[in-house]
Amino acid sequence: MTLQIKSLKQYKSVYKKSVKDPEGFWAEQAETFQWQKKWDTTLEWDFKEPSVKWFKGGKLNITENCLDRHLKDRGDQAAIIWEPNNPEEAAITYTYKELHAEVCKFANALRANGIKKGDRICFYMPMVPELAIGVLACARIGAIHSVVFAGFSATALADRIKDASCKMVICSDYNSRGTKNIPVKAVVDDALKQGCKSIETVIVHKNTGGKIKWNKKDKWWHEVMKRRRSTCKPATMDAEDMLFILYTSGSTGKPKGVVHTCGGYMVYTCFSFKNVFQYKEGDVYWCTADIGWITGHSYIVYGPLLAGATTMMFEGVPTYPDAGRFWQICEKHKVNQFYTAPTAIRALMAKGDEFVEGYDLSDLKVIGSVGEPINEEAWHWYNEKVGKGNAPIVDTWWQTETGGIMITPLPGITDTKPCYASYPMPGIQPVLVNAEGKEVKGNDVEGLLCIKFPWPSMIRTTYGDHERCRQVYFSAFENMYFTGDGCRRDEEGRLRIIGRVDDVINVSGHRMGTAEVENAINEHAGVIESAVVGYPHDIKGQGIFAYIIAQEGIKDNAAFEKGVRATVTKVIGPIAKPDKILIVPGLPKTRSGKIMRRLLRKIASGDASNLGDTSTLLNPEVVNAIRKAAGV
Ligand code: WT7
Repeated sequence: MTLQIKSLKQYKSVYKKSVKDPEGFWAEQAETFQWQKKWDTTLEWDFKEPSVKWFKGGKLNITENCLDRHLKDRGDQAAIIWEPNNPEEAAITYTYKELHAEVCKFANALRANGIKKGDRICFYMPMVPELAIGVLACARIGAIHSVVFAGFSATALADRIKDASCKMVICSDYNSRGTKNIPVKAVVDDALKQGCKSIETVIVHKNTGGKIKWNKKDKWWHEVMKRRRSTCKPATMDAEDMLFILYTSGSTGKPKGVVHTCGGYMVYTCFSFKNVFQYKEGDVYWCTADIGWITGHSYIVYGPLLAGATTMMFEGVPTYPDAGRFWQICEKHKVNQFYTAPTAIRALMAKGDEFVEGYDLSDLKVIGSVGEPINEEAWHWYNEKVGKGNAPIVDTWWQTETGGIMITPLPGITDTKPCYASYPMPGIQPVLVNAEGKEVKGNDVEGLLCIKFPWPSMIRTTYGDHERCRQVYFSAFENMYFTGDGCRRDEEGRLRIIGRVDDVINVSGHRMGTAEVENAINEHAGVIESAVVGYPHDIKGQGIFAYIIAQEGIKDNAAFEKGVRATVTKVIGPIAKPDKILIVPGLPKTRSGKIMRRLLRKIASGDASNLGDTSTLLNPEVVNAIRKAAGV
């Protein structure tokens, strides 16, 4: 069985060993899984390329480890409990046996529809069990899944389908979220009109049964599932074969497809799940993320199922029918571990304590936070109102690229401190470096967060563009993976993530590239140029502030802003809509033509004191004009 650390003393000794002999440590963990053939070499790596190979020569199928190997001991235990949007509707449970059967049936359906090992399949679905079944079915036959969050626009979906040349899209008809019934299939129809030539089949899961347009390539999920066998021979995968692609935003250009591979991802997600949440046999674990993000991949689907856990999936939103929904679900299903994002905590905190106070949350043992820094006020509210002082908060730092939780307290084992992700997981070697790449040692210091040794679930490449992977993560500092985050180490060695140091903003825990949002804004005919920065936002953590140079003759500012927001919604999706738009006469640029974002960030935060040195600007006079427009 995968190691579960039980005491501080053990954490310290395991950590020490894992750093002294990472290969030995991870080989020992990997032994606890079911391999079709054992690996020859535990690790081969060279960050210059970058090339990282864990468990080389090993053969496996991750779904055998998520499903088959649990059938004997926990076949009748709930694997997935699905809670629908509508609180009046009954929850649905899939036992391990049932989930295994559904995954096999759908895997057979995929094969019958021409899907082969290595093919890419795009998912564009709400939080329904079929999404989990679908991705596992891909893994069963060695197809590569690319899940696109169902809030992205048709254009964003089309870009991702094209980038990976997906052969199939799997979607639902509609998505019920709160009182809304959001069209999903219609977005896919729209995307396919944007030149997704590689798509051969669209599989449509009937979720609400609402009216949809039917096209030649469309097939119903329930039709392709008919008469399928409930067993399916798992494909033999190399440890380093691709498991999935997941797109994420960077500081430049289009989103990149982060690639994760089978063996290392399996070992690390299971190990981190068991330790960070201290999951015990019989517990009910709930992560409120969407499977469209890495949190959902690693800690709704793979990590928990690998560990034989009961994992919950929720279709709806935290505020429907009211702001007590999360807590009502926790009480109803006697949730033991609860994992959510600071933005949700802040939004619920703002609605008032009465929504949490009436519920029995005494089963909660661990409560987690992920995606962005959790501010002190939200941390205390979460601790007192939700954890009742009895459930330690795990503030988990990690990234799409890291595949799993990297820095975190271990509940009941290490201490916790508000705002601090605190301690590295076993096998994780974080370092702080200065701008020159020199390691900043000692305590009470700040630096750029890098990781100096490979770990099993790390990014292997960016799909179709390996050079971009090298450039973004491995070229800034020699022999290190660069995270893009700034970090502080306190007097006692705990780590605190300060935030991104690149042109990436974190809106409600979702990563947005400023360049990506700018490109979207610039598609509006009335826009000449734009610059986007983040600014502190009470609920979202960071909001999107757009400075726009508009075409002359715009008469109705409100209508113009509305048009800009509609354009961004069309190009990326509603999550990228600017919160604030300011029409400005110019943008502050250096002589080399670079926008001085530092100034824009300051002004956006409502503070124009200490704007620093502006003498290198080509157009210093524009600063006062922008201040005037912003009223600061
Ligand atoms: C970025 C990664 C990891 C899944 C969700 C987001 C920020 C993440 C924390 C935390 C402070 C955090 C970082 C990181 N971040 N967790 N506990 N404290 N910041 O994944 O979209 O890949 O974003 O989110 O800035 O680089 P992502």
